[in-house]
Amino acid sequence: MDHAISLRKVVKTFGEGQAAVHALRGINLDIGAGELFMLIGPSGCGKTTLISIVAGILRQDAGEVRLFGEDLRTMSENAQADFRARNVGFVFQQYNLVPTLTVQENVALTMMIGGLPRRRAMDRAADALFDVEMSDRMQAMPNSLSGGQQQRVAIARAIVHNPRILVCDEPTSALDHEKGRQVMEILRAIAIKPGRALIVVTHDNRVFKYSDRIATMQDGHIIRMVRRHFVPHDPVDSAPVSTSASAGLADGTAFAPVG
Ligand SMILES: Nc1ncnc2c1ncn2[C@@H]1O[C@H](COP(=O)(O)OP(=O)(O)OP(=O)(O)O)[C@@H](O)[C@H]1O
Ligand SMILES: [Mg+2]
Repeated sequence: MDHAISLRKVVKTFGEGQAAVHALRGINLDIGAGELFMLIGPSGCGKTTLISIVAGILRQDAGEVRLFGEDLRTMSENAQADFRARNVGFVFQQYNLVPTLTVQENVALTMMIGGLPRRRAMDRAADALFDVEMSDRMQAMPNSLSGGQQQRVAIARAIVHNPRILVCDEPTSALDHEKGRQVMEILRAIAIKPGRALIVVTHDNRVFKYSDRIATMQDGHIIRMVRRHFVPHDPVDSAPVSTSASAGLADGTAFAPVG
């Protein structure tokens, strides 16, 4: 079976000559459907670049990216944009909510721009907001919400079109422990729906326990891969993983380069 996300020798460089920044230096990676995959590593190591390429916000300089077996480079621009729009959701580090629209309108916006009638877009927005437990604040304006609530609206906006691939850039970084836990519970519930794959970039070692695998990046490479055994019906807080970054990573399999 095809992987949900498959990268081969993916390279991305910003700038040229002396000023060139080698953000990705040949990334090989396979992520299965149903997997919640975490990406960690120091600032500047290439995490946002990698997920932006998966989400189609950036284009790789070299190498192959396949989503559910499809190599987007072989498609026309329009087919590519359409594929991304149907299959990919992106939760940005900044929430990027439109301040002059209600919560529900924010979630409905891209579908309305995509041509869905307002009524249907608003209905689907209501469903997505229900999934992130924000039904009671649909008519609120974004700036009246807490950080955790805004993050949940941003997640609703990313999942409203039912994408198979969801990438999230530091979704819990601005949140306290309890709100971060709520957001991860929501992402975990999305990941276990059939045929979904999630990549979550994080610095937050308290959320490692929600992952199936954790990749550590350094200087444009994946230098380590650890598998966890997530048990959906176990209370997550009793999962046998240390909250310390180093111990949490030491309990897994050794790094095995892909491809
Ligand atoms: N648009 C750009 N133009 C030039 N350089 C860039 C651009 N985007 C990223 N970079 C550089 O590429 C490298 C990787 O950046 P990236 O944003 O992927 O890091 P990151 O791992 O997400 O870091 P952080 O944890 O701080 O968010 C960095 O050195 C960054 O300065
Ligand atoms: Mg980043």
